[in-house]
Amino acid sequence: MRAQNPKRVRDALAEGTRLLARAGVETPRRDAELLLSHALGRPRTWLFAHPDEVLPLAAWERYREALERRARGEPPAYILGEWEFYGVSLTVTPDVLVPRPETELLVDLALDYLQPPTRSGRVADVGTGSGAIALAVALRRPRVHVWATDISARALRVARHNVRCHRVSDRVHLVQADVLTPLIGPFDLILANLPYVALEEAHVVDSRVTAFEPPEAVWGGPHGTVYIERLLRQVPGRLAPGGVALLEIGYRQAQRVLHLAESLVPRFPARVHPDPAGHPRVVELRRPNG
Ligand SMILES: C[S@@+](CC[C@H](N)C(=O)[O-])C[C@H]1O[C@@H](n2cnc3c(N)ncnc32)[C@H](O)[C@@H]1O
Repeated sequence: MRAQNPKRVRDALAEGTRLLARAGVETPRRDAELLLSHALGRPRTWLFAHPDEVLPLAAWERYREALERRARGEPPAYILGEWEFYGVSLTVTPDVLVPRPETELLVDLALDYLQPPTRSGRVADVGTGSGAIALAVALRRPRVHVWATDISARALRVARHNVRCHRVSDRVHLVQADVLTPLIGPFDLILANLPYVALEEAHVVDSRVTAFEPPEAVWGGPHGTVYIERLLRQVPGRLAPGGVALLEIGYRQAQRVLHLAESLVPRFPARVHPDPAGHPRVVELRRPNG
């Protein structure tokens, strides 16, 4: 696509929406708005207040380039370089998974457990990626310390940047680790959104996910539960009495994960929390007191 005459905001949005809809993007209007506001360096609300503003040529060209990337399936978060999760603004690069709305349930449950808000505690966030979960928890619970692990040094660089931007380096400790090794805890709360897409379901996975997001953040072995199982083996030795582990799962994995928990963590009562769409999404294990 070549740059054409500068356009008004409303026309640019209409054209971008049409282009993205034709490319099969599910939310074409929203994405066109995000990309245009980014190209202009203005908040999205500015667009609605200035529909007749004429775009500078440079902004128009930036917008067209971003639209082309989006039309090829690249997630908007990578094009913008930032994304919001649980009200927390994060730098996001192709080295990390784009934080998903379904993961907000894990944070809701973690914050419910960490009551009252002034409570202190030791939290682990296993497979932290951009640092999304660790930051959402640490920013709402100012006395909590979070140990956030990731196997990927590149992901940890992104997380470190985000932790510094939000000024919580003194309470969010980043560690390169295979699940929780070498941390010994004990933790009051263990949180994990580890890779859980099953290789056996590769044929039904949206190819745009696998084309753009890091494989080590997506694939969880043949049935999707390799890393969840590895973490479950570590939970009994690392959870404090009365502590809770919350593990995000694929919506078809509840039975498999409960079965694993029963054999690997037999004395910790387990339950499954559904997400707002009604799909099983988080497995909770609670270590009895005493
Ligand atoms: C599904 S992503 C989740 C990222 C982030 N927690 C979120 O919710 O947006 C999983 C993350 O786990 C990391 N990971 C994969 N295998 C791991 C392992 N064995 N130990 C620790 N982290 C691992 C990946 O590098 C990736 O950053």
